Amino acid sequence: MIANKTLLLLPGDGIGPEVMAQAKRVLNWLQKTNRVSFEISEDLVGGAAIDAHGVPVTEATMVRALAADAVLFGSVGGPKWDSVPFDIRPEAALLRLRKDLGVFANLRPAKVFDALVDASSLKPELVRGLDILIVRELIGGIYFGEPRGIETLPDGSKRGVNTEVYTTAEIERVGRVAFDMARKRGKKVCSVEKANVMESGLLWRQVMTALRNAEYPDVELSHMYADNCAMQLARNPKQFDVIVTGNLFGDILSDLAAMLTGSLGMLPSATLGAADEAGRRHAFYEPIHGSAPDIAGKGLANPLAQILSLALLLRYSFDMEEDAKLIEQAVERVLATAGRTADIAAPGRAQISTSEMGDALLAELERA
Ligand code: IPM
Ligand code: MG
Repeated sequence: MIANKTLLLLPGDGIGPEVMAQAKRVLNWLQKTNRVSFEISEDLVGGAAIDAHGVPVTEATMVRALAADAVLFGSVGGPKWDSVPFDIRPEAALLRLRKDLGVFANLRPAKVFDALVDASSLKPELVRGLDILIVRELIGGIYFGEPRGIETLPDGSKRGVNTEVYTTAEIERVGRVAFDMARKRGKKVCSVEKANVMESGLLWRQVMTALRNAEYPDVELSHMYADNCAMQLARNPKQFDVIVTGNLFGDILSDLAAMLTGSLGMLPSATLGAADEAGRRHAFYEPIHGSAPDIAGKGLANPLAQILSLALLLRYSFDMEEDAKLIEQAVERVLATAGRTADIAAPGRAQISTSEMGDALLAELERA
């Protein structure tokens, strides 16, 4: 059993607390059945922290996040905070957490569960069996590049600036994660940029090529422009195994890939930092979906992406492959047999609430 490990839960805003409540039930079950004995704490983040403390994440919360063995995050933001200053908006907390934890490799698996083939907007034959992994660089690129800002020009008009920037080291470290992941899967990496218009993309392509030749000759590497990759994901997604790309393109392409699986409400993610000498590394787990303010508080949200993020936490932070699989298989059986939340509803299937989805999953776990 895994003991004495600390876990920080940050439910956040919108549907975050609702879906986190269901993930907590799974955590409790893991504790109760003596699979884990985590020290679990919980804190405010995003709009909830702005309301309570005037900032989207407090220094005390940052200290706890940095000390934790793993962080499970919900979602942040909503119209209530649309008018707060840009640098203390709810999303700033998420970006600071990612940056300060140094979690640079964001793993976004897009896997189609058999039971959900018909929930996809693509034809069933295009998505049946789909299993791709997007590795998104998460703490560099245009999200963090300098210079940035909005400046006033002499004529009184304004100019908004952001900068796309990647160094060799930043490209190599995320590249290694992608190649390592590919080795455990289909041994194919597609590297995505816009080398036809951006120097940062050209460097990205050169560094990925050199890295593959030097360290990963057994993995097949291809290159694709980001616009073409979006088109190919919608046309024939099964051609991909691992996609590695920068922060902004990864953000966009992972939403597209998520939708191929039927619902944003299904997809988890894991973000890993570099291991220190003791082999310890920061890790951050969050569903791909956002705070969905339009359905928040109504019991409509699908908690499965949050629960699958917990499964990734067990797998990547604690090497608990068996328990991760237990959860993933329970999700599969729930999808095949139980009712569905609204986002993945199917004709002839009862529509169930967030907590009823939690009930169904717990029942499956009990049966396992
Ligand atoms: C995501 C989200 C975030 C991002 C937002 C909420 C800042 O869209 O995790 O994909 O752009 O990284
Ligand atoms: Mg996004």
